Amino acid sequence: MSGPPGSSFMGTLRRRLRSLRQPRHLSAPFLPRLRQEAHGLIWFASQLVRSPREVGAICPSGQSLARGMAALIPETPGLVVEFGAGTGVVTQAILDRGVARDRLLVIEYSPRFCAILRRKFPDLTIIQGDAAKLSSYLPPDARIAAIVSSLPLMSLPKQTRASIIAQVRSVMRQEGCIIQFTYALWAASPFRRAGYQPDSRKIILLNLPPARLERFRIAGQNPAASTLRDCAIR
Ligand SMILES: C[S@@+](CC[C@H](N)C(=O)[O-])C[C@H]1O[C@@H](n2cnc3c(N)ncnc32)[C@H](O)[C@@H]1O
Repeated sequence: MSGPPGSSFMGTLRRRLRSLRQPRHLSAPFLPRLRQEAHGLIWFASQLVRSPREVGAICPSGQSLARGMAALIPETPGLVVEFGAGTGVVTQAILDRGVARDRLLVIEYSPRFCAILRRKFPDLTIIQGDAAKLSSYLPPDARIAAIVSSLPLMSLPKQTRASIIAQVRSVMRQEGCIIQFTYALWAASPFRRAGYQPDSRKIILLNLPPARLERFRIAGQNPAASTLRDCAIR
């Protein structure tokens, strides 16, 4: 049965007004996501002011760069370690790429960024720590498929950079790879200078600023590959 004359008209009008107040394209997941992005930007900027050398970027990576990094993760079994997750743009791209949550280990130096990451990804393993102590966070039998690094290697202190590269070398087996970007488009990567060979390289122009994205593999046999247990600091 229909209601009194005019009631359906009023109902339609009410519905129209409601939908105008909340346009379709701004509905459900869009607004929370936009709020989250804006929130992330503010946190990023405030952390940049506090620790410019550690943050080393004017804003979080864009989608092209984040997806480009994730696309380089090989199919080989093993852990995926993310260095310097910041507000989680690359973390999300890694998950979107299909990496299982229990294969991903995130290491982020800043406690403030870690708080954001834990809110965004409550079911991920997020370690507030230093990439230069990588081995101390790994299980003894860890096999690493890829390290996805957003670390600003060029702006970090020389000693920290050297320790990070030494740690990567000590835990990485032959089949593992390192995915790293830099804004220094023409400068040689510290990984390259440490004897790693790039097997993929591209410039991502659709990023602010444009970035060079590379994937490195260890050249020749890594003598420390089978001694993860020995080098773990516990
Ligand atoms: C350029 S930002 C990248 C953030 C994010 N991945 C992105 O692409 O937008 C560098 C990140 O590395 C982190 N970081 C710097 N030094 C670190 C270290 N030694 N260990 C772990 N994270 C570090 C910073 O706190 C910051 O979150």
